[in-house]
Amino acid sequence: METLEMQKSTEIEYPILEVIEQRRSSRAYSDKAIEPEKIKALFEAARWAPSSVNEQPWVYLYATKDQAALHQKIVNVLMPGNIIWAHQAPLLIVAMARKYFSQNDKPNGAAKYDLGSANAFLSLEATRLGLNVHQMGGFDKEKAHVEFNIPSTHEAVVVIAIGYLGDINALPEDLRARELTPRQRNTQNSFVLNKEF
Ligand SMILES: Cc1cc2nc3c(=O)[nH]c(=O)nc-3n(C[C@H](O)[C@H](O)[C@H](O)COP(=O)(O)O)c2cc1C
Repeated sequence: METLEMQKSTEIEYPILEVIEQRRSSRAYSDKAIEPEKIKALFEAARWAPSSVNEQPWVYLYATKDQAALHQKIVNVLMPGNIIWAHQAPLLIVAMARKYFSQNDKPNGAAKYDLGSANAFLSLEATRLGLNVHQMGGFDKEKAHVEFNIPSTHEAVVVIAIGYLGDINALPEDLRARELTPRQRNTQNSFVLNKEF
């Protein structure tokens, strides 16, 4: 049986797209607002993601900081550990999946998978535009459904914080340390098989 060894490394070991290399989930945001055209470009990138039978089950509810009440409402559904830094982000998005196929109302088992693809496309476009994206599973899903009137046909999956990078020295010490720690990944021999298990 082939064994997958769990090894870790901080190196990018083969040449890859620059945006993949550059992307990271920082927690330091500047106050600078995001240009409306760039916000459109983020959702455009998500729009062109692949999806099962081209269902495109993603739905995004967003607020910029100048929509103070709606922005704060998104902040309020986050877990305290995320509120500390994410409230600074000038753009917050509640990313949802439509759970049923539009053709026949049958459950779409790929809905969250496809939302993940769209979020990845959005994240890489954001990187190209000089923006930092930080996805958060740490939020109160039930509260989000109530606060934003999300129908039961939809599921809120992640909240996404987006903005220009800020000063990491302005972060609390523990978060600052996390920013400075080299990112680690499992090496390919931990997850790539070229024969049966
Ligand atoms: C679905 C999902 C949920 C996440 N939830 C949180 C979260 O609640 N809080 C947080 O600080 N980071 C969260 N993250 C960010 C991850 O911790 C981060 O992507 C991971 O550590 C890898 O770091 P990198 O994105 O900088 O490469 C989440 C990421 C994803 C994709």
